[in-house]
Amino acid sequence: FFFGSLCQAQSQANYDETKVPKFALPDVLTSFSGNLITNQTEWEENRRREILQFFEKQVYGKVPDRLDEFGFKLLEESNDAYGGKARRKQIAITLKKNKKSITYYMLIYLPKGNPTAPVFLGYNFYGNHTVTNDPKVQITKAWVKNNDALGITDNKASESSRGVRTHRWAIEKMLDNGFGLATIYYGEIDPDKNDFSDGVHPLFYRDGQSKPKTNEWGSISAWAFGLSKAMNYLESDVNISKVFVFGHSRLGKAALWAGATDKRFAGVISNNSGCGGAALSRRKFGETIEQINTSFPHWFADSFLKYNNNERTLPVDQHQLLALVAPRPLYVASALDDKWADPRGEFLSTYYASSVYGLYGKKGIDTKEMPMTNAPIQNTVAYHIRTGKHDVTDYDWENYIKWANTFVK
Ligand code: GCU
Repeated sequence: FFFGSLCQAQSQANYDETKVPKFALPDVLTSFSGNLITNQTEWEENRRREILQFFEKQVYGKVPDRLDEFGFKLLEESNDAYGGKARRKQIAITLKKNKKSITYYMLIYLPKGNPTAPVFLGYNFYGNHTVTNDPKVQITKAWVKNNDALGITDNKASESSRGVRTHRWAIEKMLDNGFGLATIYYGEIDPDKNDFSDGVHPLFYRDGQSKPKTNEWGSISAWAFGLSKAMNYLESDVNISKVFVFGHSRLGKAALWAGATDKRFAGVISNNSGCGGAALSRRKFGETIEQINTSFPHWFADSFLKYNNNERTLPVDQHQLLALVAPRPLYVASALDDKWADPRGEFLSTYYASSVYGLYGKKGIDTKEMPMTNAPIQNTVAYHIRTGKHDVTDYDWENYIKWANTFVK
């Protein structure tokens, strides 16, 4: 799975701050035609729209059309999960187009004390049954990536991988603090391989078509679409209030794009999302556009290829993706040893997005000085860099919960 070449790329990348090229960032509040944006209306109606369209057509790719049908079904519900602390629901979501359909499964835990709870919605990498030891959680039948350490072979999940990712999901902490969790296995929307014959893409093909058009959606956009459709269910559930969309790494890129394209998400959390996520592309520190398009040719629209080693000509940079979330709460988090994701580039991106939050009287990140390690800045825009590697830890969740809590009262 591209592993050899990815490892090689990681070892050959630039991690030297003195080798970051000099660059001028396109200003988030100056339109493509050079007009200065000074208020919310101009932002919403002109600038936000043109930035969104650019990312849509030139970066992640457009969703080709609307669905014909959306449906969901409650498969299972219980009141005694987590020793009686939580209610569990498992929901099947079906998307239909052109007489074709896909079905994916959402696992939800809700704290029992709250009649309506805020939830974190996030994809998992290996199946819903991996985030918990709960024996009632169904095992995905979809293709999963092999992983020797997790005991996954033949691209199939089984009982042996139940609970292997519990350390990445602080479910009890969420429940104890009045939050719920909704999670979906991302491979049920689109298997993460360079193949457009499976997942959600083919639902939209015309006769004879076998892959999306140049400006149409890659996998990140498909995953974001899946999150957005999951929101159709979540907003209909009377036990759920606000939804904070969360994602780690490639799924952090998807969470950001979901938050940018669907304003129903009350807030967005990007955990170590890196290149094509929160990190500024122009810094060319760690992973670059050329590298990501080479290792993962299916993630972005084909139109994004023209920016390989050509970042200067991009009329946007990733701080403008972050700005699309404004004025809603946004948390970007990095890890000290995750140089591949360019922590400094992720931080600077929050700083350069913050002028848009200012238009709404919201506090963003108002300094270009990175905070100390393990010293979060938590405003409407929040940022932390923690010790450790590319991962999701209890420390990350403790901070997301504390911060999100200030927006749910
Ligand atoms: C690779 C890839 C990153 C991605 C990461 C992940 O390292 O280069 O862009 O974020 O995988 O999803 O873990």
